[in-house]
Amino acid sequence: MKHSAVTTGSFVVSALSSVALSVVYLGGGQPQLEGLFLGISLGGIAIGLALVAKETLPHGPFEQERDLLPGDSDEHEAAEDAFDEGAEPLERRSFLTKLIALAFGTLGIAALFPIRSLGTKPGRDLFHTAWAEGLKLVTENGVAVKAEQLAVNGVLTVFPQGHTDAADAQTVLIRLPPDADAPGPESASVEGFVAFSKVCTHAGCPVGLYQAESRELFCPCHQSAFAVMQGAEPTSGPATRPLPQLPIGIDDDGYLVALGDFPEPIGPGFWDRGRD
Ligand code: FES
Repeated sequence: MKHSAVTTGSFVVSALSSVALSVVYLGGGQPQLEGLFLGISLGGIAIGLALVAKETLPHGPFEQERDLLPGDSDEHEAAEDAFDEGAEPLERRSFLTKLIALAFGTLGIAALFPIRSLGTKPGRDLFHTAWAEGLKLVTENGVAVKAEQLAVNGVLTVFPQGHTDAADAQTVLIRLPPDADAPGPESASVEGFVAFSKVCTHAGCPVGLYQAESRELFCPCHQSAFAVMQGAEPTSGPATRPLPQLPIGIDDDGYLVALGDFPEPIGPGFWDRGRD
Protein backbone atom coordinates (compact mmCIF):
# COMPACT_ATOMS: atom_id res chain seq x y z
CA MET A 1 0.00 0.00 0.00
CA LYS A 2 1.32 3.39 -0.90
CA HIS A 3 1.19 6.08 1.72
CA SER A 4 0.36 9.56 0.62
CA ALA A 5 2.83 12.41 0.54
CA VAL A 6 0.76 14.10 3.24
CA THR A 7 1.35 11.15 5.58
CA THR A 8 5.11 11.05 5.15
CA GLY A 9 5.22 14.85 5.08
CA SER A 10 3.47 15.02 8.45
CA PHE A 11 6.20 13.00 10.13
CA VAL A 12 8.96 14.92 8.35
CA VAL A 13 7.46 18.26 9.38
CA SER A 14 7.09 16.96 12.95
CA ALA A 15 10.74 15.91 13.08
CA LEU A 16 11.93 19.24 11.62
CA SER A 17 9.79 21.12 14.08
CA SER A 18 11.29 19.16 16.99
CA VAL A 19 14.77 20.02 15.74
CA ALA A 20 13.75 23.69 15.49
CA LEU A 21 12.37 23.49 19.04
CA SER A 22 15.72 22.21 20.30
CA VAL A 23 17.61 24.92 18.43
CA VAL A 24 15.40 27.68 19.86
CA TYR A 25 15.77 26.26 23.38
CA LEU A 26 19.54 25.98 23.12
CA GLY A 27 19.69 29.51 21.72
CA GLY A 28 18.28 30.93 24.92
CA GLY A 29 14.60 30.08 24.51
CA GLN A 30 11.58 32.00 23.30
CA PRO A 31 8.32 30.76 24.83
CA GLN A 32 6.04 31.63 21.90
CA LEU A 33 8.31 30.01 19.34
CA GLU A 34 8.87 26.97 21.53
CA GLY A 35 5.12 26.56 21.94
CA LEU A 36 4.59 26.89 18.21
CA PHE A 37 7.21 24.29 17.34
CA LEU A 38 6.00 21.91 20.01
CA GLY A 39 2.46 22.24 18.68
CA ILE A 40 3.59 21.57 15.10
CA SER A 41 5.66 18.62 16.23
CA LEU A 42 2.85 16.98 18.18
CA GLY A 43 0.29 17.90 15.52
CA GLY A 44 2.43 16.39 12.77
CA ILE A 45 2.67 13.10 14.62
CA ALA A 46 -1.06 13.09 15.34
CA ILE A 47 -2.01 13.81 11.73
CA GLY A 48 0.51 11.29 10.41
CA LEU A 49 -0.73 8.50 12.67
CA ALA A 50 -4.33 9.24 11.81
CA LEU A 51 -3.54 9.05 8.09
CA VAL A 52 -1.57 5.84 8.52
CA ALA A 53 -4.52 4.30 10.30
CA LYS A 54 -6.85 5.47 7.58
CA GLU A 55 -4.66 4.18 4.77
CA THR A 56 -3.61 0.94 6.40
CA LEU A 57 -6.62 -0.41 8.15
CA PRO A 58 -9.22 -2.19 6.02
CA HIS A 59 -12.59 -0.60 5.69
CA GLY A 60 -15.36 -3.13 5.91
CA PRO A 61 -17.66 -4.84 6.00
CA PHE A 62 -16.08 -7.68 4.01
CA GLU A 63 -17.33 -10.99 2.80
CA GLN A 64 -15.15 -13.73 1.41
CA GLU A 65 -16.07 -17.01 -0.18
CA ARG A 66 -13.85 -19.81 1.00
CA ASP A 67 -13.29 -23.36 -0.14
CA LEU A 68 -13.30 -25.82 2.64
CA LEU A 69 -9.99 -27.44 1.70
CA PRO A 70 -7.78 -25.37 -0.61
CA GLY A 71 -5.28 -27.66 -2.05
CA ASP A 72 -4.53 -27.80 -5.72
CA SER A 73 -1.22 -26.51 -7.01
CA ASP A 74 -2.83 -23.59 -8.83
CA GLU A 75 -4.03 -22.23 -5.58
CA HIS A 76 -0.60 -22.70 -3.99
CA GLU A 77 0.98 -20.71 -6.80
CA ALA A 78 -1.63 -18.01 -6.46
CA ALA A 79 -0.87 -17.83 -2.74
CA GLU A 80 2.89 -17.51 -3.39
CA ASP A 81 2.28 -14.74 -5.91
CA ALA A 82 0.12 -12.91 -3.44
CA PHE A 83 2.86 -13.25 -0.82
CA ASP A 84 5.50 -11.87 -3.17
CA GLU A 85 3.29 -8.95 -4.04
CA GLY A 86 2.91 -8.21 -0.36
CA ALA A 87 6.66 -7.80 0.08
CA GLU A 88 6.65 -4.41 -1.59
CA PRO A 89 4.11 -2.78 0.71
CA LEU A 90 6.01 -4.24 3.64
CA GLU A 91 9.16 -2.49 2.50
CA ARG A 92 7.27 0.77 2.13
CA ARG A 93 5.86 0.27 5.56
CA SER A 94 9.36 -0.15 6.97
CA PHE A 95 10.25 3.25 5.50
CA LEU A 96 7.21 4.73 7.18
CA THR A 97 8.17 3.09 10.48
CA LYS A 98 11.56 4.79 10.26
CA LEU A 99 9.86 8.12 9.66
CA ILE A 100 7.61 7.62 12.69
CA ALA A 101 10.63 6.66 14.80
CA LEU A 102 12.43 9.79 13.58
CA ALA A 103 9.47 12.00 14.52
CA PHE A 104 9.17 10.48 18.00
CA GLY A 105 12.95 10.40 18.50
CA THR A 106 13.52 14.06 17.70
CA LEU A 107 10.56 15.03 19.88
CA GLY A 108 11.94 12.88 22.70
CA ILE A 109 15.34 14.55 22.43
CA ALA A 110 13.70 17.99 22.46
CA ALA A 111 11.76 16.97 25.56
CA LEU A 112 15.01 16.18 27.36
CA PHE A 113 16.39 19.71 27.07
CA PRO A 114 14.16 21.28 29.74
CA ILE A 115 16.02 19.12 32.27
CA ARG A 116 18.72 21.80 31.99
CA SER A 117 16.21 24.29 33.33
CA LEU A 118 16.22 22.52 36.66
CA GLY A 119 19.41 24.44 37.37
CA THR A 120 22.73 23.38 38.74
CA LYS A 121 23.10 20.55 41.18
CA PRO A 122 23.10 21.76 44.78
CA GLY A 123 25.98 19.43 45.58
CA ARG A 124 27.11 19.77 49.21
CA ASP A 125 26.06 23.42 49.43
CA LEU A 126 22.97 22.60 51.47
CA PHE A 127 25.17 21.19 54.21
CA HIS A 128 27.29 24.29 54.71
CA THR A 129 26.92 28.01 55.29
CA ALA A 130 29.48 30.80 55.15
CA TRP A 131 30.27 30.43 58.84
CA ALA A 132 33.83 29.33 59.55
CA GLU A 133 36.18 29.28 62.50
CA GLY A 134 37.46 32.73 63.44
CA LEU A 135 34.87 34.76 61.53
CA LYS A 136 33.50 37.63 63.59
CA LEU A 137 29.78 37.93 64.23
CA VAL A 138 28.67 41.13 62.51
CA THR A 139 25.39 43.02 62.24
CA GLU A 140 23.56 43.33 58.94
CA ASN A 141 25.57 46.52 58.41
CA GLY A 142 28.81 44.62 58.76
CA VAL A 143 29.72 45.98 62.20
CA ALA A 144 31.52 43.46 64.39
CA VAL A 145 29.74 42.69 67.64
CA LYS A 146 31.54 43.02 70.96
CA ALA A 147 30.32 40.96 73.88
CA GLU A 148 29.80 44.03 76.02
CA GLN A 149 27.45 45.57 73.46
CA LEU A 150 24.57 43.18 73.98
CA ALA A 151 22.53 43.56 77.16
CA VAL A 152 21.34 40.57 79.17
CA ASN A 153 18.20 39.12 77.55
CA GLY A 154 19.14 41.03 74.42
CA VAL A 155 18.86 39.51 70.95
CA LEU A 156 20.61 40.43 67.74
CA THR A 157 20.65 39.10 64.19
CA VAL A 158 24.20 38.45 63.09
CA PHE A 159 26.03 37.30 59.98
CA PRO A 160 29.52 35.96 59.28
CA GLN A 161 32.00 38.74 58.69
CA GLY A 162 32.13 39.47 54.95
CA HIS A 163 28.92 37.56 54.24
CA THR A 164 26.08 39.86 55.27
CA ASP A 165 24.22 38.81 52.12
CA ALA A 166 24.27 35.12 53.01
CA ALA A 167 20.63 34.48 53.90
CA ASP A 168 21.30 30.90 54.98
CA ALA A 169 23.90 32.09 57.49
CA GLN A 170 21.69 34.56 59.36
CA THR A 171 21.85 33.78 63.03
CA VAL A 172 20.09 34.87 66.20
CA LEU A 173 22.51 35.84 68.97
CA ILE A 174 21.01 35.81 72.47
CA ARG A 175 22.55 36.85 75.75
CA LEU A 176 21.16 34.76 78.59
CA PRO A 177 21.16 35.90 82.23
CA PRO A 178 24.29 34.94 84.18
CA ASP A 179 22.39 32.38 86.27
CA ALA A 180 21.08 30.49 83.21
CA ASP A 181 22.74 27.27 82.12
CA ALA A 182 23.47 27.74 78.45
CA PRO A 183 22.11 24.90 76.28
CA GLY A 184 24.10 22.68 73.99
CA PRO A 185 27.71 21.58 74.25
CA GLU A 186 29.79 23.68 76.62
CA SER A 187 32.09 24.65 73.81
CA ALA A 188 29.20 26.06 71.74
CA SER A 189 28.39 28.98 74.03
CA VAL A 190 30.41 31.57 75.88
CA GLU A 191 29.62 33.73 78.88
CA GLY A 192 25.86 33.31 78.43
CA PHE A 193 25.92 34.02 74.70
CA VAL A 194 24.19 31.47 72.50
CA ALA A 195 23.57 31.58 68.77
CA PHE A 196 21.04 29.68 66.69
CA SER A 197 20.25 29.60 63.00
CA LYS A 198 17.56 32.12 62.21
CA VAL A 199 16.17 30.02 59.37
CA CYS A 200 13.06 28.19 60.56
CA THR A 201 13.31 24.44 60.17
CA HIS A 202 9.69 24.28 59.05
CA ALA A 203 9.60 26.33 55.86
CA GLY A 204 12.57 28.66 56.09
CA CYS A 205 11.04 31.88 57.44
CA PRO A 206 13.25 34.02 59.67
CA VAL A 207 12.73 33.16 63.33
CA GLY A 208 12.75 36.75 64.43
CA LEU A 209 10.91 36.98 67.74
CA TYR A 210 12.46 36.25 71.14
CA GLN A 211 10.53 36.23 74.38
CA ALA A 212 12.99 36.64 77.25
CA GLU A 213 10.55 35.54 80.00
CA SER A 214 9.89 32.12 78.51
CA ARG A 215 13.21 32.05 76.66
CA GLU A 216 11.54 31.02 73.45
CA LEU A 217 12.13 31.94 69.86
CA PHE A 218 9.06 32.30 67.65
CA CYS A 219 8.59 31.99 63.94
CA PRO A 220 5.94 34.42 62.72
CA CYS A 221 5.00 32.40 59.65
CA HIS A 222 3.24 29.42 61.23
CA GLN A 223 3.83 30.08 64.90
CA SER A 224 6.48 27.50 65.64
CA ALA A 225 8.11 28.05 69.03
CA PHE A 226 11.64 26.94 69.95
CA ALA A 227 12.80 26.51 73.54
CA VAL A 228 16.20 28.14 73.77
CA MET A 229 17.14 26.42 77.02
CA GLN A 230 16.48 23.02 75.40
CA GLY A 231 18.76 23.73 72.49
CA ALA A 232 16.03 25.43 70.43
CA GLU A 233 13.89 22.29 70.34
CA PRO A 234 10.50 23.04 68.78
CA THR A 235 7.77 23.06 71.43
CA SER A 236 4.78 23.99 69.31
CA GLY A 237 3.87 24.66 65.71
CA PRO A 238 4.72 22.65 62.60
CA ALA A 239 8.52 22.70 62.91
CA THR A 240 9.94 19.30 63.86
CA ARG A 241 13.66 19.95 64.06
CA PRO A 242 15.64 22.19 66.43
CA LEU A 243 17.34 25.29 65.12
CA PRO A 244 21.01 24.34 64.66
CA GLN A 245 23.32 25.98 67.19
CA LEU A 246 26.35 27.94 66.05
CA PRO A 247 29.45 27.39 68.20
CA ILE A 248 30.76 30.79 69.31
CA GLY A 249 33.52 32.26 71.45
CA ILE A 250 35.07 35.63 72.31
CA ASP A 251 38.42 36.66 70.87
CA ASP A 252 41.17 38.54 72.65
CA ASP A 253 39.70 41.89 71.67
CA GLY A 254 36.28 41.06 73.09
CA TYR A 255 34.61 40.37 69.75
CA LEU A 256 32.24 37.47 69.35
CA VAL A 257 33.56 34.98 66.82
CA ALA A 258 32.39 31.73 65.32
CA LEU A 259 34.21 28.55 66.23
CA GLY A 260 33.03 26.81 63.08
CA ASP A 261 29.97 26.25 60.90
CA PHE A 262 26.64 24.91 62.11
CA PRO A 263 27.09 21.23 62.98
CA GLU A 264 24.08 20.26 60.85
CA PRO A 265 22.19 21.64 57.84
CA ILE A 266 20.08 24.68 58.54
CA GLY A 267 16.46 25.26 57.57
CA PRO A 268 13.95 22.82 56.15
CA GLY A 269 14.99 20.09 53.77
CA PHE A 270 15.25 16.47 52.88
CA TRP A 271 16.93 15.62 56.22
CA ASP A 272 13.53 16.14 57.85
CA ARG A 273 12.18 13.08 56.08
CA GLY A 274 11.83 10.00 58.15
CA ARG A 275 11.48 11.92 61.39
CA ASP A 276 8.43 11.09 63.49
S1 FES B 1 8.22 28.66 58.52
FE1 FES B 1 8.43 28.79 60.63
S2 FES B 1 6.72 27.83 61.38
FE2 FES B 1 6.48 27.65 59.28
